[in-house]
Amino acid sequence: MEEKRKPIGVFDSGVGGISTLAALMRELPGERFLYLGDMAHAPYGTKTTEEVQQLVRQVVARLEEREIKALVIACNTATGAAAAMLRAEKPYPVIGIEPALKPAEEHWQGGQIRVMATPLTLRQEKFLSLMERFGAHAVPQPCPGLMELVEREDEKGAAEYLENLFRGWDLARVDAVVLGCTHYVFLRPLIRRMLPDRIRITDGNAGTARQLRRVLRERGMLSDGQEGSVEMDTTGDPERDLPVMRRLLERARAIPAGEDEAAGG
Ligand code: DGL
Repeated sequence: MEEKRKPIGVFDSGVGGISTLAALMRELPGERFLYLGDMAHAPYGTKTTEEVQQLVRQVVARLEEREIKALVIACNTATGAAAAMLRAEKPYPVIGIEPALKPAEEHWQGGQIRVMATPLTLRQEKFLSLMERFGAHAVPQPCPGLMELVEREDEKGAAEYLENLFRGWDLARVDAVVLGCTHYVFLRPLIRRMLPDRIRITDGNAGTARQLRRVLRERGMLSDGQEGSVEMDTTGDPERDLPVMRRLLERARAIPAGEDEAAGG
């Protein structure tokens, strides 16, 4: 198959990366996307780096069966654990996502920047170096258990989780909140309603989509097809997972693009 018409592989531990997928489709409507959710092994964020690397190898091998021209890691946790490893091994471009600290920091007004992410993301080398560059006022906030509520489409459970979380913050001193896990982007409208308007909310999806476009253009790999397409798959039970995935893609396409300007990681 002609290189330009090959699909772009996109994966996450579950449904979170569908929020990234929607941003990719918005930015590059002429591309063919293959999305794989590793639902059989989610969550990644409470595992070790080595465990996540092992799972990522399996997921990527499955996407490679379809001759992908590029790979998007639509998961902050997997990017931290495995982006460098994949870049060293793969002949095609590998684009990752990382917590959008820079645009949040630009909104700093003397208070704190709260970075919501999985425990593993916040422990990783990659995040610590991001903190050194853009995290002068950042306060890491691990959110174990929150992605599971998004996987289950449990809005009520998520609202309770977030109420508890925000109760522990001094909201008057918070200037920005970083959604450092792609699952949390589905909660953006809920979080927006729960937080004062002056608090900025950032995520890395739009920045990652722009980064993918940049890399494909530089390498002369942008599709010249008129019509893009999307296929979704799961390592779990397709009968259970695919209807949820389709619903969430519709929802993600309706969520306005983030207020962020972050680059992919
Ligand atoms: N969606 C993933 C992320 O962006 C992680 C969720 C998980 O598997 O714990 O970090």
